[in-house]
Amino acid sequence: MGYDPANPMADRITDIGPPHYEQFFPPVVKNNYGKWLYHEILQPGVLMHKAENGDECYTVRIGAARLISIELIREMCDVADIHCDGYLRWTTRNNVEFMVDSKAKVQPLLDDLKSRGNRMPVGGTGASVSNCVHTQGWVHCHTPATDASGVVKAVMDELFDYFTSHKLPAQVRLALACCLNMCGAVHASDIAILGVHRKPPMIDHDAITGLCELPLAISACPLGAVKPATAKNSAGEDVKSVKVNAERCMFCGNCYTMCPAMPLADPDGDGIAILVGGKVSNSRTMPSFSKLVIPFLPNTPPRWPETVAAVKNILETYANDARKYERVGEWAARIGWEKFFEKTGIPFTIKSIDDYRLAYDTWRTTTQFKFTSHIK
Ligand code: HEM
Ligand code: HEM
Ligand code: SF4
Ligand code: SF4
Repeated sequence: MGYDPANPMADRITDIGPPHYEQFFPPVVKNNYGKWLYHEILQPGVLMHKAENGDECYTVRIGAARLISIELIREMCDVADIHCDGYLRWTTRNNVEFMVDSKAKVQPLLDDLKSRGNRMPVGGTGASVSNCVHTQGWVHCHTPATDASGVVKAVMDELFDYFTSHKLPAQVRLALACCLNMCGAVHASDIAILGVHRKPPMIDHDAITGLCELPLAISACPLGAVKPATAKNSAGEDVKSVKVNAERCMFCGNCYTMCPAMPLADPDGDGIAILVGGKVSNSRTMPSFSKLVIPFLPNTPPRWPETVAAVKNILETYANDARKYERVGEWAARIGWEKFFEKTGIPFTIKSIDDYRLAYDTWRTTTQFKFTSHIK
């Protein structure tokens, strides 16, 4: 029955959860589930998994923009229909994978993908720069300090060669979040791009009393910068509001998330910070958080040249200097962060010195350090 607005609960289906993934397994995956022996990367973007019974599953990984139209999804379905019996999958980094059950089917699939221009670029495996995990930006969120899709497109254009090859010491994970809610993976990625504000919130005294739960706005602040206050609205009346101690505010935007009358976005104030050295795997060393190395780059749509250049510089300095298997953070830790700043030529600023609560542990409590040439 069609939805009846006069009787919204009639025929309502709820709590059915996602469909079971097994019904979408290609036969070769279903038959060999839990029985894989080993895998090989045959070339950038192409994997082979060997099963106990000798079966082989060939996987071709393509980049995707994450934000894609139904038309492009249908085109991907066409590719899956032609080559893969209608099966395909998305990865945890929003790449798309086509699987076939014999080697003979790989080349026709690659040729087909190639014929579709760069809409379906093959790569993202091994020691590459795979897709950049990213967020909503100006396409859909109300708290961003930068855009997501635009910056990611500009960065991936410049690093495209690293997506389609295996020439890095280890995989390099890029992530972008458009505000420091950090939806996604910026806090644990090799190179992270993060939208930041630099001005305290404005307060709309006309709207705030009715629009916001004031205690929520006050308790949202990590620094106690928001206090209850009586203020005058534009009609000259006393209203319940808040005041912000700008000296204490670090522009996180948390109060705006709680209270729509405290907006802080600003075209000149807002921009991008770069963090590096995070990882989530336990290989060799523990997972780690990424660390702030560039406090601010301007928002320069549509191509963000400063951000693109900064990411490329870090990536290529790492690529030339790190040892095989070393992730960006492992490299920086081995050579010392002072050497990271020297080799990348990034000016070290006071903004990289932690001053929040547990900051003490991030300072240097040893005489072990290296002299560097880049600080005059
Ligand atoms: C035997 C168990 C597991 C295997 C074999 C496995 C394997 C993988 C593989 C192959 C990838 C893709 C790596 C790439 O992008 O190249 C991946 C990504 C990931 N896995 Fe697992 N995984 C396992 C368990 C888990 C568990 C238990 C969690 C979470 C509790 C987890 C969280 C993740 C996350 C967050 C990613 C994305 C990381 C990234 O793309 O940077 N995995 N995993
Ligand atoms: C102190 C706070 C946090 C800690 C300690 C933390 C820690 C971690 C760790 C260790 C991982 C890797 C998980 C794995 O591989 O199994 C991870 C991944 C992730 N975190 Fe956080 N996280 C924090 C805050 C957040 C916040 C605030 C968000 C979003 C609003 C977030 C979203 C995610 C997402 C989406 C991933 C998966 C990334 C991927 O698929 O590659 N985390 N986090
Ligand atoms: S990171 Fe911030 S601005 Fe971006 S989608 Fe998440 S909450 Fe919105
Ligand atoms: S922006 Fe953040 S630090 Fe500034 S007042 Fe709001 S919650 Fe506090």
